[in-house]
Amino acid sequence: MPSTATRTLAPDANGIAQAAAILARGGLVALPTETVYGLGADARQGRAVARIFEAKGRPRFNPLIVHVDSAETARRYVAWPAQAEALATAFWPGPLTLVLPLRDDAGLSPLVTAGLDTLAIRVPAHPLARRLLAAFGGPVAAPSANPSGRISPTTAAHVLAGLSGRIEAVLDGGPCPVGVESTIVGLSGTPVLLRPGGLPAEAIEAALGTPLAAPGGDETAPDEAAPTAPGQLASHYAPAATLRLEAHAPRAGEVYLGFGSGACDLNLSDTGDLTEAAANLFGHLHQLDAGGARAIAVAPIPHHGLGRAINDRLARAAAPRG
Ligand code: TXA
Ligand code: MG
Repeated sequence: MPSTATRTLAPDANGIAQAAAILARGGLVALPTETVYGLGADARQGRAVARIFEAKGRPRFNPLIVHVDSAETARRYVAWPAQAEALATAFWPGPLTLVLPLRDDAGLSPLVTAGLDTLAIRVPAHPLARRLLAAFGGPVAAPSANPSGRISPTTAAHVLAGLSGRIEAVLDGGPCPVGVESTIVGLSGTPVLLRPGGLPAEAIEAALGTPLAAPGGDETAPDEAAPTAPGQLASHYAPAATLRLEAHAPRAGEVYLGFGSGACDLNLSDTGDLTEAAANLFGHLHQLDAGGARAIAVAPIPHHGLGRAINDRLARAAAPRG
């Protein structure tokens, strides 16, 4: 594809105005959200959405999340059952994506949903994402701003490392506070946990008053044949190094990514705090990659709360590459 000079936009009124103008003319802007950086395009412009897939080298069948400024705006695009209202009231803006039936009059590019009759939608909490959505005034389709299959970006530098020359700009909002992608819940039937993420499933179940079904089964053993969300391929979030999980100590030649107290090369959280570990996860993998690590051993991480999302991403990073 033709090379584009990628600009870094400052997190101020001028940067936001420029980012909104780029989106309006069908360009691509990477924007900070509370979870990870997203690669944004106007969800109504087919050519702009197509450029997302081109820039990421992403398979066409993988549908995108649409970002809007409020639950009220979301209702223009999707059917809105009582459970959507309950979860939106409890958790939006925030790291929760709802998959709901797409409205016939939504007016979005069919590329956004990859031809499905449901739409993934969320209201992000990051102040810069919110200001950009307000300035742009339309729906923004945004997958994570990494080349397909690579680690998700949690800083503007990560975005540039993967996509410089392929997108118009990155709005620099510093490190993303949550650090793993949003939790995705399907609400077109029985509530389903499609992807564990930055909002613990336990909190969602408490708000719904019902357990979430888990179509993908055990998140520690992702299965190519039964992806938990379309396009959730087993090998994903991959660093260049191989990963060995649930490792109580490194073997010869491995660098050790720790969790909790104990000797290691880099620690996700030396106090054993899952929120801190989620925020550090992709940044630490990027750092070990940049340092030339060939083999990474990862300490055991508890499987509750945000640990579910962390273990899901680690399992995908460790999966055999296609
Ligand atoms: O935190 C996040 O969710 C970030 C930020 C940028 O918002 N975005 C993100 O997008 O993680 P992406 O494209 O990397 O992951 C979106 C996931 C994919 O696994 C996709 O298959 C799933 O959402 N998805 C999208 N539309 C769907 C639908 N209609 N039904 C089921 N899954 C869907
Ligand atoms: Mg992604």
